[in-house]
Amino acid sequence: MSLAAVITEDFINRFHKKPSLFMAPGRINLIGEHTDYNEGFAMPAAIDRHFIFAMAPSGNDRCNVFSKDLQEGVTFSLYDLNHGEAWINYLMGVIDAFQRRGLAVRGIDCVFGGDIPAGGGMSSSAALCCGFGFAINEIFKLGISRLEVAKIAQSAEHHFVGAMVGVMDQYASLFSKKDSVLLLDCKTVSHQHLPFNFPDYEILLVDSTIKHSLASSAYNDRRESCETGVHLLNKKNATVRSLRDASRVMLFEQQDELGEEIFVKCLYVVEENIRTQRAADLLKTGDLKGFGDLMYQTHWGLSQAYDVSCPELDFLVSLAEEFRSEVIGSRMMGGGFGGCTINIIQKERVSVFKEMVLAKYFATFKKEPGFYSVKLSDGVHSVAV
Ligand code: GLA
Repeated sequence: MSLAAVITEDFINRFHKKPSLFMAPGRINLIGEHTDYNEGFAMPAAIDRHFIFAMAPSGNDRCNVFSKDLQEGVTFSLYDLNHGEAWINYLMGVIDAFQRRGLAVRGIDCVFGGDIPAGGGMSSSAALCCGFGFAINEIFKLGISRLEVAKIAQSAEHHFVGAMVGVMDQYASLFSKKDSVLLLDCKTVSHQHLPFNFPDYEILLVDSTIKHSLASSAYNDRRESCETGVHLLNKKNATVRSLRDASRVMLFEQQDELGEEIFVKCLYVVEENIRTQRAADLLKTGDLKGFGDLMYQTHWGLSQAYDVSCPELDFLVSLAEEFRSEVIGSRMMGGGFGGCTINIIQKERVSVFKEMVLAKYFATFKKEPGFYSVKLSDGVHSVAV
């Protein structure tokens, strides 16, 4: 039985009516990390791991939501959105964001479940918020755009979860297209689809299984460092309103005023924007090897300059580097401090590489890494029941 069928059956047993079905994918990011909240470039894509939502109006002001994976349900009123625990926050945050926009959301019945590993850096939270928001928009015919759904999902994280995330994850979940990546411009909040079709290669995520409890506070700290940098740069160059407007030259000119800490962080972001644009050009000419080299550079920038890696992620990338002719690109992915590395690897070498990583990672950290081969997939969409 497919996941969609399992979720539908559960919904019908629970609520005794037919639901509408929606699919919301997780995402990867090939390059362009910690650039989105600096109005920079990123290159994310949705993957073939997702949540399925079965939803219908409840007919009153109550939301009755059941998580199939956690075997846990919640009921709350549209007029009593208090910060709750974990996943409930995300859903309440979405409803709150609709209401802030003056949109007439009504109560819903919902069952959802999926196969995006939580905490693995594949952005299960964005998939949760985007899928939930998209479904509400559809069933109540609110007529808002995908971009507004992305912003609603982002707002849920800001106001109900306290993570000041950029828009990359939500954008990727909503706008991706099969077998392509997005070149996302976070200044204009627009994208190009770039085909990513390399039959001899596979995208393999290696999960460090580390979940760092400081991740969200460190994330907010990095964001603040960038904002401080922009504030200082703006005093000399009024045109600098975000790090997107800053150049390496400007940073070196104001190195002393910025101070070592802020300078290093801002330089990473400015260089990552350059790398991401270069990566897009290389992709267009089919130079996957050159593309992979940039991924390695990004990793060491994130680790040594931006300081968001951890020993386990560095270890995994160093292992990949030993097999550089086969693993042509590797780096930590997402916010950092744990989660996965993303690797572009020759298909025929995948099983040998996995065995080697498993043995060495276990010998060093006494835990087994996870492996996920992913395919690039369509963004959030309705599914026939
Ligand atoms: C997390 C955030 C994104 C982005 C990445 C880092 O995934 O949700 O908005 O900032 O970290 O690139």
